[in-house]
Amino acid sequence: MDERLKIVAICGSPHRGNTYKILGMLANAHPDVDYKILMLSELDLKDCFGCYSCIDNGEESCPHQDDRDVIIEEMKAADGVIFASPTYARTVSALMKKFVERTSFLAHRPIFFGKYAMALATCAGFGADLTCKYLTEHFTQYGFNFVPPVELMVARKTKNETERNRNLALTAYEKLINALRSKAVIHPSLNQLVYFNIFKSISEWNKLKGWADYEFYHGKHDFYYDVKIPFWKKKMAKWISGKTVKKMKAESR
Ligand SMILES: Cc1cc2nc3c(=O)[nH]c(=O)nc-3n(C[C@H](O)[C@H](O)[C@H](O)COP(=O)(O)O)c2cc1C
Repeated sequence: MDERLKIVAICGSPHRGNTYKILGMLANAHPDVDYKILMLSELDLKDCFGCYSCIDNGEESCPHQDDRDVIIEEMKAADGVIFASPTYARTVSALMKKFVERTSFLAHRPIFFGKYAMALATCAGFGADLTCKYLTEHFTQYGFNFVPPVELMVARKTKNETERNRNLALTAYEKLINALRSKAVIHPSLNQLVYFNIFKSISEWNKLKGWADYEFYHGKHDFYYDVKIPFWKKKMAKWISGKTVKKMKAESR
């Protein structure tokens, strides 16, 4: 069996610029890691039509034939994923946003539990924190556990700035590698439990329209996989999600 760690970095920059260079530098930090950079700009990824097919009827019903599933298979094969984007207008690039939209059925039906991820963003002056927050919050819904992000300011490219960015990125990458090697059992957070309960309730409420979610959640009880959850945490998650779903139902009448 191949024991080498596999990490895939998904780069939302439209060119091999600042963000790509930082990702490239990480490749050399651990030659023992099977490390791959996927440039979204060099793959065929079409714009989401907004037809809801993937969400309601299953991802295989998406009308596009492109590289979406190639990227998802790379993520499945990896132990860890780096989601990287330049900051464009205070958030992720349009290319990264397209990837988010095309895979957002995974927020309904997450499959990446047990994998670690890291958000990395570059900016000229400000906004890398917002970009990382967006990446972390979105891809957490797919089941990933995030290590602390890498927020880099690449304004003047002085020697000091370059060195500082190199150290920040390497330190964060080390945390990702350690998390992957620790093989610690990951317990679901309260937030993840709340999400589970909300999506499960909605899948039952909406089963005639969104049968893909219904099938996914049907037969699942406390969480996406079998895990022991403390009684208080289970109760609390049910209470919070119950209130949210009640409000949604009341507002949709
Ligand atoms: C369209 C566009 C919008 C940008 N918006 C921001 C911004 O809101 N905040 C910021 O600090 N830098 C901004 N920048 C600068 C980039 O974030 C920065 O140069 C980044 O490192 C570019 O990465 P890349 O070479 O991978 O494209 C912007 C750059 C472009 C091209």
